[in-house]
Amino acid sequence: MEEVLYTKDLKERHSKEIFQKAGAYCWETPNELFEELNKEFNFTLDVCADENNHKLDIYFSEKEDGLKQDWGKNICWMNPPYGRTISKWIKKAYQESLKEAVVVCLIPSRTETNWWWDYCLKGEIRFIRGRVNFKGRNTKGELVNYPATFGNAIVIFRKQKQEVRNSSQA
Ligand SMILES: C[S@@+](CC[C@H](N)C(=O)[O-])C[C@H]1O[C@@H](n2cnc3c(N)ncnc32)[C@H](O)[C@@H]1O
Repeated sequence: MEEVLYTKDLKERHSKEIFQKAGAYCWETPNELFEELNKEFNFTLDVCADENNHKLDIYFSEKEDGLKQDWGKNICWMNPPYGRTISKWIKKAYQESLKEAVVVCLIPSRTETNWWWDYCLKGEIRFIRGRVNFKGRNTKGELVNYPATFGNAIVIFRKQKQEVRNSSQA
């Protein structure tokens, strides 16, 4: 039987199609999960959002491009797009935390990736038991539930934590 090669290109088109069909490029945070963390951190900035899904009054959308902004001294909430740009978001979150921001990230626990090893391991990791029941807009624009098909973690980047870690390693 002829074997069909599962090439990189085919794989990318396949997953893009599936995600677009599901309208699931944006995995919106369930309110209960956000509120629980907000109680603990008192977030001041949602670094990636849009006018329909921002969790806080102050947010960056694609137009401002959160990746290009200075996150200052904000306590940031970050549930980034889960596509190919995710590594840029994790790197940015880590770098901003080396300045003055605190960044709490809701991300897929992709422990096989370079970004996990290069950055996430420098933060505080809280694995989420079970799967997050995300919300998202389908192709008709309706808000529907999207249970994740992967595990998630909360990763917290804050300078203090990294300093304590570095001094205990010295
Ligand atoms: C996973 S959703 C998270 C939405 C919301 N903050 C939440 O926690 O539910 C990611 C959002 O990032 C937005 N986004 C994509 N690129 C962006 C960029 N360069 N700067 C800011 N936001 C961006 C998307 O439009 C989308 O609304």
